[in-house]
Amino acid sequence: MTQHTHRDHDHRGHPGENHAHAHAHQHAHQHGHDADFDWEALSGHLEREAELHTPAVTGAARWLGGLLDGTPVRRVLDVGSGPGVVAGLLAEAFPAAEVVAVDQSEALLERARTRSAGRVGTRRADLPADFGTLGTADLVWSGNAIHHLGDQQAALTALAGTLRPGGLLAVAERGLPARYLPRDLGLGRPGLQARLDAAHEEVFAAMRESVPDAVAVVEDWPAMLAAAGLVPGGTRTFLVDRPAPLDAPAREFLHVQLSRRREQFGDVLDEDDLAVLDALLDREAPTGILARPDAFYLTALTVHTARAAGGADAAGA
Ligand SMILES: C[S@@+](CC[C@H](N)C(=O)[O-])C[C@H]1O[C@@H](n2cnc3c(N)ncnc32)[C@H](O)[C@@H]1O
Repeated sequence: MTQHTHRDHDHRGHPGENHAHAHAHQHAHQHGHDADFDWEALSGHLEREAELHTPAVTGAARWLGGLLDGTPVRRVLDVGSGPGVVAGLLAEAFPAAEVVAVDQSEALLERARTRSAGRVGTRRADLPADFGTLGTADLVWSGNAIHHLGDQQAALTALAGTLRPGGLLAVAERGLPARYLPRDLGLGRPGLQARLDAAHEEVFAAMRESVPDAVAVVEDWPAMLAAAGLVPGGTRTFLVDRPAPLDAPAREFLHVQLSRRREQFGDVLDEDDLAVLDALLDREAPTGILARPDAFYLTALTVHTARAAGGADAAGA
């Protein structure tokens, strides 16, 4: 990443954080990973997003518990945990386990400790360099983090290496982009959300290209898990379905999300769509995202799983 020309994607800094952003960029060069995000500034946004996704994560955790039935779950890692919402839900789902949130950001880990009132342990790790320091686990979860590492296949192989015999790796990447507005929202040309998705794909691709040591791979997660030496255990998708009318926290989340889109996609979207984003961001207008009665939130979390050989299953238990 020699130039600062690539565009922002979903999880980068907010408007007005150029100094922090430049600092993070320099940090990325020093540490060999894509720190071109101000994760600390994003903490509240990541937290609200994960809270919105709680029903899906809870459903996924229940499914993982079923897959692990018969395997004692004593240690769980959430790799790239962010502020620890998911780690907290894993702690609820696996009450007998030590649950450890792993992230490069000490500020986010601090949030994880506070949120969970100490139930979740934390470990700071700069990946991929620190994969070897994570210890072993019966269940490893990683949500929306692997795509920030240059060599995604190598990352899966390293995570596979942390699994105890019979352990399970669960990777939540992609799923479906969120929908929150009608096709025709009464402002601008119908189909805004589809155009936002297309813009996001462009920005995401540029982000991937800019990650240091990026390796292109066909993002067939079950095949990648198999190439990591694991036995694919199935893929499932969990719905997040919040119909209109939305409550205030969900609206505030969408307001921040749309502000980020406005900043990130400024040179991808046309002027008409940018004007619609401005109208949606108007905090006073009845057509703004904070007031309109038709705003909803619909998305889906896809989780790919794979097992390490050995353990109770292999013993025929
Ligand atoms: C998009 S957030 C996902 C947070 C959480 N897993 C979730 O799904 O809500 C990505 C997280 O990965 C962490 N991360 C990104 N690159 C990392 C790296 N090289 N080493 C360790 N953590 C990293 C970031 O600090 C951030 O918390």
